[in-house]
Parts: sequence; structure tokens; C-alpha cells
Amino acid sequence: MAETVRVKNIGLRGVVVADTAVSFIDGEKGVLIYRGYRIEDLVKNSTFAETAFLLLKGWLPSDRELEAFSEDLVKAREVPDFVFNSMKLWPRQTHPMDVLQATVPILGMADPELAVDNRDALARKAIRLIARIPVVVAAWHRIRQGLEPLASDPTLDHAANFLWLLQGAKPDPELAKDLDTCLVLHADHTFNASTFACREVVSTRAHIYAGVAAGVGALSGELHGGANARVMEMLKNLDGVEDIAGWVKDRLARGERIMGMGHAVYKTMDPRAIILKEIAYRLGQKTGQTQWPERTSVIEEAALAEFAQRGKHDIKPNVDFFSASVYHIMGIPGDLMTCLFAISRIAGWSAHVIEEKFGEAQGKPALYRPKAEYVGEYCGLLGCTYRPQAERNPA
Ligand SMILES: CC(C)(COP(=O)(O)OP(=O)(O)OC[C@H]1O[C@@H](n2cnc3c(N)ncnc32)[C@H](O)[C@@H]1OP(=O)(O)O)[C@@H](O)C(=O)NCCC(=O)NCCS
Repeated sequence: MAETVRVKNIGLRGVVVADTAVSFIDGEKGVLIYRGYRIEDLVKNSTFAETAFLLLKGWLPSDRELEAFSEDLVKAREVPDFVFNSMKLWPRQTHPMDVLQATVPILGMADPELAVDNRDALARKAIRLIARIPVVVAAWHRIRQGLEPLASDPTLDHAANFLWLLQGAKPDPELAKDLDTCLVLHADHTFNASTFACREVVSTRAHIYAGVAAGVGALSGELHGGANARVMEMLKNLDGVEDIAGWVKDRLARGERIMGMGHAVYKTMDPRAIILKEIAYRLGQKTGQTQWPERTSVIEEAALAEFAQRGKHDIKPNVDFFSASVYHIMGIPGDLMTCLFAISRIAGWSAHVIEEKFGEAQGKPALYRPKAEYVGEYCGLLGCTYRPQAERNPA
């Protein structure tokens, strides 16, 4: 076989494939930065709308800029009827992430600028996606219960409007603010699997909706965004289990994973998990549901002790560990939890799509085309001897 010079890295761990100016992680120190700003500062001082502006444009908005951006987001919430009419035909048991993945290209069909790829048009498409993804997620939850989707409320901000559309009641402002914080926390995370999927797809010059549909698909997996729903299943399955530490020990002894722990980049506690833990306990106390964060903490303690015994000192809680309790306390059904991740991450995906399409960080766009090592049948460059079909049938 012809010799090739290659560097093999299964899963591309540590391989730099592009430059980006959107976000930065220091996995050893537990630092996450969007466009230069630490996540802790954004959580304390910003809203999701402001964070989305920052990710898309690269700077923190002035009052006027933020007002105009927020107005654009509110105006873009309206989804053409044919989108909901299509969704009404789908099997009601379909998982919300599958619905979302199928709906994103339909939103593309409704976009008058689908084929226009200049920077301004892309920014407008990003606003439509950010505005409409929560609307379709909430609509699906109603449609699958045989209910009509509700109309958005222009007086409510992004997070509060989502809770209204989902639950049909004006949300508690503190709870809506906490959801907004969750959206800030999940908005971007460098070259994670779903962002890379978006970037890879649009590197072929496919449109943003094709890229985002791929991103939603990647996010749905349990090793990525799907983990929050699996954490919630785990917490519910522990109802009535007294010896949670023993349960953790058995699970790890069977070689199974503890969902919501471990990270490909963080070798210390995920900074988002620290903030989400605090929200989970605070909301738990407010609503009389501390059992969820408390159960999560018991798992955490037991798992850390087990990992330490195995010499694995870098498997710590990630963003999904405590977000499951937070969302559950907010009344979000388990199978919608990964959609909430998408409702936030669409801001980061869009920023990365724009960066990718214009090669903004590295001077020029590039088509991704890695190599794989061929380990299949090989009979030399002339190929294996082809046997016609008649000769392949056993006597
Ligand atoms: C996210 C994740 C895939 C990153 O892992 P990674 O850095 O790529 O490392 P690997 O998957 O190769 O795992 C390395 C070792 O740690 C173990 N490990 C990693 N995360 C673990 C977890 N949550 N529970 C138990 N063991 C875990 C693996 O079993 C493996 O052990 P081995 O070397 O004895 O085979 C992994 O931590 C995981 O599966 N976590 C649970 C799912 C999750 O929460 N995903 C959301 C991420 S934000």
C-alpha cells in the first residue's frame, strides 16, 4: 500500500483545525470566555439577547443596538403556518430533538433570504433561527398533546416567552431570569461536536439551515447535549434507592458511565456546572424540590470517590449534571431538556457559521477534508479480482 505521511488522532482530540475568535476554553483552569468576556461576568451582568449579540457581532451592544436587536428577535418569532401544519402530521411520539432536526430545514424553506449569503443576510437568518427555534420546540410540545401552538407574547423576553409558549402561563420572573442565565451559559463552547458539525457542513458552502440541522443532530447524542435528559432519567430512576453510593459503585463496576460527568476538554469542574449547581439549590429551596440537586450531589460525591480510586482525577461534573435539576424544577419535561440546549446554542452555532463562511478568523474559508486510515480489504492498486454475480452463488 502506498505510504502516506500522517498524524492519526482518533476523535481529533487536541487537533487544531481552524482559528476562531468566538470563544475560548482553558480546560485545566476551568475558564470559559465568549469574545473575550468570562462566562461569570456575562451571567452576572448580561442577558441571553445581549450574549447572542456579542457572539454574532463580536462586541457588547450599546443600549440602542441592544434595543434594536431585541426588537428584531421579537419580530422574527412569527413562524409561517405551513411549518406548524407540517408538524401536525408527524407521529406524536417523535422525540423533540428529531422534530427540531426535521424542522430546521423547513424554517429554511420559509426564509426569503435562504440563498443569500452575504454577511448582513446571514446575521438576519441567525436572528430568525434564534427567535424561531424556541417557538417550534414549544409548539411541538403542544401539538403532541393535541393542543394548538400559542402565539408569542411581544412583552416577554426570549426566555420568558419560551416558558409562556410551553406552559401556557405567564412565568415567575425569577424563574424566567434563571432560564435566561441557563441560555447564557449554554450559548457557545468552541469546537464541540455540534458546532464542528455546523461548521463542517457550511464549509461546503451549504446554507446555514443545512449546517444547523446537522448541529441539532450532533447535539442529540447522549455523549453531547443528550446527556442532560439522561441525567434526569438517572435521577428519577433513583427514586426510593437508599444506597445511592452503592448504586454508583455498581454502575461504574459494570463499566457504565455517569451521565453529566466528564468532559473532553475540562480537566477540572466545568465553570458552568458551578453556576448551575447554585441555581439548582436556590430554585429547589424556593419550590420545595431540593431532592433533585441533593440527589445529584450524592452521586457527585460517590462518583468522585470511585474515580479517585481508579486514578481518574479529572472526571468532574459538566454542564449537564445540574442543569437537569434546574430544568426539571422549572417544569421542563425531560425529553425537552436537550432542545433547551439547542435553543441557546443556536447563538453560538450561528456565530461559528458566519465565521466559517467568511473565513473571518483565519483569513479565508477552507473546506474540511480530513483523512482516514484504510484498514479494509486490499489487494494492491489493481484491486481485488472481481467475480461476476453468477460465480458468487454457492453450489
Ligand atoms: C464527555 C465524555 C465523552 C468525554 O470523555 P473523553 O474525555 O473523551 O474520554 P473517554 O470517553 O475516552 O473516557 C476516558 C475514560 O474515562 C471514563 N469516563 C469518562 N467519563 C466518564 C463518566 N461520565 N462516567 C464513567 N466513566 C467515565 C471512560 O470510561 C474512560 O475509561 P477507560 O479509559 O477506563 O476506558 C465522557 O466524559 C462521557 O461520556 N461523559 C458522560 C456523558 C456526558 O455527560 N456528556 C456531556 C458532555 S458535556
